[in-house]
Amino acid sequence: MVKICCIGAGYVGGPTMAVIALKCPEIEVAVVDISVPRINAWNSEQLPIYEPGLDDVVKQCRGRNLFFSTDVERHVCEADIVFVSVNTPTKTRGLGAGKAADLTYWESAARMIADVSKSSKIVVEKSTVPVKTAEAIEKILSHNSKGINFQILSNPEFLAEGTAIEDLFKPDRVLIGGRETPEGAKAVKTLKDVYAHWVPEDRIICTNLWSAELSKLAANAFLAQRISSVNAMSALCEATGADVTEVSHAVGKDTRIGSKFLNASVGFGGSCFQKDILNLVYICECNGLPEVAHYWKQVILMNDYQKTRFVNRVVASMFNTVANKKVAILGFAFKKDTGDTRETPAIDVCKGLLGDKAQLSIYDPQVSEDQIRKDLSMNKFDWDHPAHLQPSSPTAIKQLSVVWDAYEATKDAHAVCILTEWDEFRNLDYQKMFDNMQKPAFVFDGRNVVDAEKLRNIGFIVYSIGKPLDAWLKDMPAVA
Ligand code: NAD
Ligand code: UGA
Repeated sequence: MVKICCIGAGYVGGPTMAVIALKCPEIEVAVVDISVPRINAWNSEQLPIYEPGLDDVVKQCRGRNLFFSTDVERHVCEADIVFVSVNTPTKTRGLGAGKAADLTYWESAARMIADVSKSSKIVVEKSTVPVKTAEAIEKILSHNSKGINFQILSNPEFLAEGTAIEDLFKPDRVLIGGRETPEGAKAVKTLKDVYAHWVPEDRIICTNLWSAELSKLAANAFLAQRISSVNAMSALCEATGADVTEVSHAVGKDTRIGSKFLNASVGFGGSCFQKDILNLVYICECNGLPEVAHYWKQVILMNDYQKTRFVNRVVASMFNTVANKKVAILGFAFKKDTGDTRETPAIDVCKGLLGDKAQLSIYDPQVSEDQIRKDLSMNKFDWDHPAHLQPSSPTAIKQLSVVWDAYEATKDAHAVCILTEWDEFRNLDYQKMFDNMQKPAFVFDGRNVVDAEKLRNIGFIVYSIGKPLDAWLKDMPAVA
């Protein structure tokens, strides 16, 4: 019987291992983490992450062939395959700060594997890492291995949050990179056999190690680039009277381009796009490719521009000041169907509005007040590092309230900003909302979820990303 251990019980480690356990009942899977509260939550009724379908999968396997534990060393020692799915955040200090990946967590996991292992193992990079990381990991493992054989594989994860279970059940592809040696090929085959339990053979791609590592960074860069491209068009649409939804529909009909990932928005968020592109930029710079680095950096700059543009639009439309005006924020998570707020565009938008002295009232169906206050108190890039960098008691931001209802958030407000595309925001009673707001009442739709015409008929002044502007907004100063 093959035994698997996964180091890191986060958004990737938890769901991925739960699906492996479900699909491979004869394999024993242990998910381990140094965070006691996280493991306790995995072993409770209230899982540490919100992900549609996850509860059901975990319930079917937990205690059968799926175990969550803080006994990291024992499970690593007993495993044949060790996945490493720890966080790989952006460095906050030292060489490469603000760009390079911080591999502290990965390195300490590798050293621990070397220390506790008594038998040969396949070590799988599940985390997203810089290309050539496997070489460094091999060095750590082989220098400390006491003669034990370790094969390193790169098996990056492509799931998206909110659809993780669906993505894992039916992946577009599974990518496995290994050394081009007989031992490397054998290790690739072992991992391939695990996925072959449910993934069709033609969807399992085997490559060399460096291609697998780089493909993950490339995939995220390409996806984010599409969003920045459509967001760049959204600015031009607003300036010309074109409608970005019509433009992206027309462009996406070209089968060479395709229709997915062309929704204009207030900007992309999430724990990975920015971090992985910054990492790619850094790798290009280190390899003497400044033009390539510059090219990819633009994807981030355009995303920052889109968030700033949104804040400027809000302020400019409301007579160039939001000081002491109540602004309702609907949605704080970085996308719908997740409670995850890592790098959510809502952080930058809220900070921008708070900077202009707005009074914010925030509602998100899945995000707690504590999380929102932490996010708004934290420095850039600190969120993915251990607790000591994060504020334990977030400074009380007086201009902020967090409520559990969209109507409460919008009561007496001057404006509503929609920052996450939660389905429930499409079907709110906007007439009721309008009746309880200050006038003129504004809606700034950062996700294009509302029917702007319907809202205009109610009496709202509506701004939708990349759509022809309301007469009111046209008369206001241009925003940059
Ligand atoms: P996460 O922060 O949710 O989980 C990482 C976990 O690793 C944490 O619980 C942390 O306590 C644990 N950990 C850190 N060092 C450890 C150690 N030495 N021993 C044991 N546990 C340790 O992160 P995540 O979102 O699951 O991402 C993990 C990796 O997967 C990252 O490299 C990320 O880029 C990549 N990735 C993430 C997603 C996503 O949707 N979140 C998708 C694809 C790839
Ligand atoms: C993304 C990738 O889609 C996954 O394939 C990858 O595995 C993952 O990053 C990762 O490496 O972490 P995720 O960040 O969970 O997944 O979510 P996405 O669906 O990609 O959304 C990212 C951001 O882009 C969200 O803020 C979303 O609202 C925004 N977005 C997405 C748009 O603004 N427009 C779109 O058309 C699509």
